[in-house]
Amino acid sequence: MDRLSVDLERCVPGGGIARGLTAGMMDEFRPRLDAALAAVHASAGAGMLEWTDLPDRSPDDLLRFAAENHGKYDCLVVIGIGGSALGTTALATALLPFYWNELSATRRRRGPRLYVLDNVDPDETAALLERLDMERTLVNVISKSGTTGESMAGYLVVRQRLEAIVGSRAVKEHLVFTTDPSGGTLRQIGDGMGVPMFDLSPGVGGRFSVLSPVGLLPAALTGMDVQGLLAGARDMAAWTKDSAGWQNPACAFAGVQYLQDVEFGRRISVMMPYSAHLRDLADWYRQLWAESLGKTVDRQGRTVNVGPTPVKGLGVTDQHSQLQLYAEGPDDKIITFLGVGEFAQTVQIPDPGPEAEALAYLGGRSLAELLWAEQKSTAWALAQNGRPSLTITLPKVDARSVGALIYMLEMATAVAGELYDIDAFDQPGVELSKKATYALMGRAGYEDLAAEIG
Ligand code: PA5
Repeated sequence: MDRLSVDLERCVPGGGIARGLTAGMMDEFRPRLDAALAAVHASAGAGMLEWTDLPDRSPDDLLRFAAENHGKYDCLVVIGIGGSALGTTALATALLPFYWNELSATRRRRGPRLYVLDNVDPDETAALLERLDMERTLVNVISKSGTTGESMAGYLVVRQRLEAIVGSRAVKEHLVFTTDPSGGTLRQIGDGMGVPMFDLSPGVGGRFSVLSPVGLLPAALTGMDVQGLLAGARDMAAWTKDSAGWQNPACAFAGVQYLQDVEFGRRISVMMPYSAHLRDLADWYRQLWAESLGKTVDRQGRTVNVGPTPVKGLGVTDQHSQLQLYAEGPDDKIITFLGVGEFAQTVQIPDPGPEAEALAYLGGRSLAELLWAEQKSTAWALAQNGRPSLTITLPKVDARSVGALIYMLEMATAVAGELYDIDAFDQPGVELSKKATYALMGRAGYEDLAAEIG
């Protein structure tokens, strides 16, 4: 297998699901799917669909920055939140060796340890500051708007520590910003201090920005294969352009999720990777799907309150935590298994010996065989309970296949936005809570709102 596959077998009646998509339903739905895809392609590269251009943009400037700074820093701290942080965490878990931060500098090929500060928990922040050797730390502050309170607070706290240790004149040598090319407070600060900055185009929303400098700069600094990520995304861009209907992987994913929601009331979309490397990609997907599709109004301004609820699971771990609910609880879920065709390592399970005969079936098999068997048996067992699933399989976890998966899920989100007829690129619900926080923190201009909240 040389490219990702999407298998719908376990969400159609032939796969054992009585209450599922019939061939007739899928045929009937196909024109809507094609229309949704055509609408996305018609706007590609423009407005808030600028992210579709990202795979074609040259990463030379950020690769140069990474090369110039190679070996200079022991730690890279990414300060950002939501779309400005989840992509980096997902890429790091997928593409860096496990336990990266615990490896020696040689094993890290002199790449920095990576810390993502995406919360304002004082205990966590203080503990991180405690750990960092500021003289050998680079801080990448990422905020598209350049005003997000949590990220700006993190920046101010870390900058103060930097100033105390390296002195205010040297601070800018420890900073790099990723933000809007012209607006926002972060841009102003960067301009004032002479901090190196990378642009995040206004037409690329935070949760669609992982293939921009938002995700690619930390990737380049830690030595990930940035060109491979972009090449995989380009492959997928071509595939999702040149195919249609259920043969198009993004349409297949979006169509199944949408129909399960609106036709069968399966409003919970579980993403369950069977690869620990893909664990945080499920987290990234959770934000992409939730923030894009959870909306009060449709594009005609009618109140619709739509949006499936994405849930993250992990195979096999969550078979011993969530599976009971998925199998026997409310029939309100569609499970996406995210599998891999090949693991980098082979770990054999030793023969347990005569004293543990009950374990003989494990002896001589590999951990990969066990994982694959558990993934397959879980999909089968769910189907026996009438619970649908689909399976996305990557040939292996590498930059190319991760780039392809990211682009596929972004395209699926845009197609789903068309199907729900909502704006998949805004987040008005998040904005309101941001404003409420400003009010409670005493920001000028928000006095009335502070009084209203009480
Ligand atoms: O996807 C989004 O748009 C959001 O999750 C943003 O990324 C998040 O709110 C952070 O915003 P900003 O990058 O402007 O600090």
